[in-house]
Amino acid sequence: MIDLTVKLKNITFRNPVFVASGTFGYGIEIPDLVDISRLGAIITKSVTLHPREGNPPPRIVETASGMLNSIGLANVGVDRYITELIPRYESLETPIIMNIAGSSLDEYTAILRKVESVSSNIIGYEVNISCPNVKKGGMQFGVDRELTARLTEQLRKCTERLLIMKLSPNVTDITAIAAAAENAGADAVSAINTVVGMGIDAITRKSKIYMTYGGLSGPAIKPIGLAAVHKIHRKCSLPIIGIGGITCGNDVVEYLLAGAIAVEVGTANFRNPGIVQAIVRDLYTYCKEQKIDQISGLSGGVETYP
Ligand SMILES: Cc1cc2nc3c(=O)[nH]c(=O)nc-3n(C[C@H](O)[C@H](O)[C@H](O)COP(=O)(O)O)c2cc1C
Repeated sequence: MIDLTVKLKNITFRNPVFVASGTFGYGIEIPDLVDISRLGAIITKSVTLHPREGNPPPRIVETASGMLNSIGLANVGVDRYITELIPRYESLETPIIMNIAGSSLDEYTAILRKVESVSSNIIGYEVNISCPNVKKGGMQFGVDRELTARLTEQLRKCTERLLIMKLSPNVTDITAIAAAAENAGADAVSAINTVVGMGIDAITRKSKIYMTYGGLSGPAIKPIGLAAVHKIHRKCSLPIIGIGGITCGNDVVEYLLAGAIAVEVGTANFRNPGIVQAIVRDLYTYCKEQKIDQISGLSGGVETYP
C-alpha cells in the first residue's frame, strides 16, 4: 500500500499536492469536472481587510512558458469572506488554508483577529508577504527580515492554527527571510510567489500589462522555485511548501527531493482545472514504479555533486 500522506504541524494531509492561492478562487467555485476530495488542500485567494477591485486590465498576459499577472489582490474583503464564504466550507472535506494579505502590520493582524473570532473549519493561514502587484504593502514585508519577523511574531500571538509565511523570490537572499519567519514562530514557509517580469508589444510599443510590471508564473519559474526550496532546506529546519511551475507528478517529486514536504499548483489550473487529480495519479504511479512506500520519505533526498 502506497502512503501519499504528509504531515504539517499536527495535521495529516491526504497527499502533498495543494492548489495555490489566486488560481482556485475561494475554494468553492469548483467546476463539475474537479473532484476536490482528491486535493491535498486548497489555499484561497488572498483576502484583505477591505474589499479590493484589483488593478485595471490588461492584467493577465501569456508568455512563452507561463503567464504574467497583475491582478492586484482583487477580493471581497474579510467581512464578506466571513459571512458568505466561511459557512460554505462546512460541507467541504478538503482542508482550507486561508491566504491573507495586508498593507501594514495592523491590517494583517486585524484580518486574523476577525477570522479567529468566528467559528470556522479553516485549518490555517498562508500569509502573503510577497505580492509584487500592489503599490502598498505586499512584497514590502517579504523583502525585509525585520518586518517579516515582526509580522510573524504578531500573527503567531493571534492564532494556534497552522501559520505559513509565503516568500518572495524577488530578494537577494530568500534564506534570510525564511530564517526570520522560522525564528519568529512560523510553522512553515511556502516558496515561491511570482517573479517580477514585464511584457512589451513590439508593434504597438505598449506595455502588455497596465501596471507595467507583473508576476511571472508557470513552467518558466520552476528552476527558480526549486533553488529557493533547496537553499531554504539547507539553512532552516521548518517545513517548506514548494511552489512554481508544477504541471506533472515528476515536478512534484523534484520539489520534494529539493526539500519540500508538500507543493502548491498554480498556473497549471488555468489550463486544466482537473490537473491536480492527474498529478496525484502520476505520483501514485511514480511511487509504485520506484517501489516507494511513503512519499514523505523523499523530502530533501536530492543528491548534489560534492
Ligand atoms: C492569476 C494569479 C493570481 C494569483 N493570486 C495570488 C494571490 O492572491 N495570493 C498569493 O499569495 N499568490 C497569488 N498568486 C501566486 C501563486 O499562488 C503562485 O505562488 C505562483 O503563481 C507560482 O506558482 P505557479 O507557477 O504554479 O503558478 C497568483 C498567481 C496567478 C497566476
